[in-house]
Amino acid sequence: MSNELRSAAKEFLVRYGGDAFPNLFTSAKGTIVRDDTGREVLDFTSGQMCATIGHNHPAIVEAVNRAGTKAFHMFSGMIPEVVAELAQTLATDWMPEGLTKSLFVNTGSESNEAALRMAKMYTGGFEVLAVGGSWHGITGGASSVSLASDRKGYGVPTPGVFVIPEPNAYRPYIPGLSEEEEALACLELGLKLFDMQSTGRGAAIIVEPVISAGGVLVPPKAFYQGLRKAADERGMLLIFDEAQTAFGRIGHRTGSDFHEVVPDILTVSKTLGGGLPLAGVVTTPKIEADVYEKHYTYYTSHVSDPLLGEVGLAVLRVIAEESLIERARTMGAYLREGLLGLQQRYEAIGDVRGQGLLLGVELVEDRESRKPAHQLGALTTQKCFELGLSMNIRRRPERGSVWRIAPPLTVSHDEIDRAIAILDRALRESLDEMALTKAA
Ligand SMILES: Cc1ncc(COP(=O)(O)O)c(C=O)c1O
Repeated sequence: MSNELRSAAKEFLVRYGGDAFPNLFTSAKGTIVRDDTGREVLDFTSGQMCATIGHNHPAIVEAVNRAGTKAFHMFSGMIPEVVAELAQTLATDWMPEGLTKSLFVNTGSESNEAALRMAKMYTGGFEVLAVGGSWHGITGGASSVSLASDRKGYGVPTPGVFVIPEPNAYRPYIPGLSEEEEALACLELGLKLFDMQSTGRGAAIIVEPVISAGGVLVPPKAFYQGLRKAADERGMLLIFDEAQTAFGRIGHRTGSDFHEVVPDILTVSKTLGGGLPLAGVVTTPKIEADVYEKHYTYYTSHVSDPLLGEVGLAVLRVIAEESLIERARTMGAYLREGLLGLQQRYEAIGDVRGQGLLLGVELVEDRESRKPAHQLGALTTQKCFELGLSMNIRRRPERGSVWRIAPPLTVSHDEIDRAIAILDRALRESLDEMALTKAA
């Protein structure tokens, strides 16, 4: 059966990005995914960074079953009770002060699309400032403000997008400055260029609290405070895209809490659905009332679906009951310690960075030149998989070769030890292999 289905996958599926694994996959539980050979693989990307409470947590399974006895889906104009409860829970327990109005959609792309539409309608403007290296999604508006993705070949993007260079302490655009000075210099330059080009119809600044796809960069608080001020001065709204950072992954409730900056709109997705397609846009009553008056529409087939309301509530309950925010800090520190230990032994590990359990490891040819080690990145990622560890490598010629490591917040010490041992072996064997090829 397995070979037949592998052939079916080749014959009948559209290839949608990157290289898929040759194996097919059958199940996932906690930190483990299983492939069609029965092999277990440690999932250190939490699926697509979504399964923060572990794959198929019993509370999620129970929520899906509960929805099965009540309702999965309803007419979009009928608000399910459970969706009202989720909105109330977010406003009272999870969101920064003042952000109390939620809209529930399905994907991260959609949440940003909805946020941008809201910002444009509220301000009457259309210009959007985004940060280099960002990823906000694949739909029209969201992909137009995404700069870590390949933009070529898809026609005309949404007009009015401007870029602030991303702060990068390891590969600074403006060298010789402190981390904070560099971040503020990037901001100043980006704003200067924006002000020169702007038609005066600014709508929003959109930013991730940790620039994840861009190489797991954590700009300093001062950068976000600067963005807040820049948005206010220009009458634009500040949007935080917290697809990866909300609900504990970085050891805080939100990236907004971490940076101590409150945006006007906060989007959430991956980490709220725990593996099911739930996303949200959260804003202030003032903005919500304004765009309502102007007939704001975000009416989709699956807006406010009760199935996802049940799931979102279950995910939030588990995060609170299992103290997963605190766990992200302690297990994040433990994982980082292991990675720093590897860095002491391998010249090829140029930098270890990130926050909580969202970590990045940058591979270089040598620490002096900091030249990105693309071949090593590809080889070690493949070897890790063969040895039973799945992680994500981000490779962009201009931005280096970075492992993105983000296991479920429920990960155990033993699983981290096993992952570090696999990384160690994969690095050693890859470096040996590359040295042999070079010598031959
Ligand atoms: C920060 C961020 N925003 C938005 C998205 C898009 O989310 P989705 O893939 O659910 O549309 C992603 C996906 O990787 C992301 O990392």
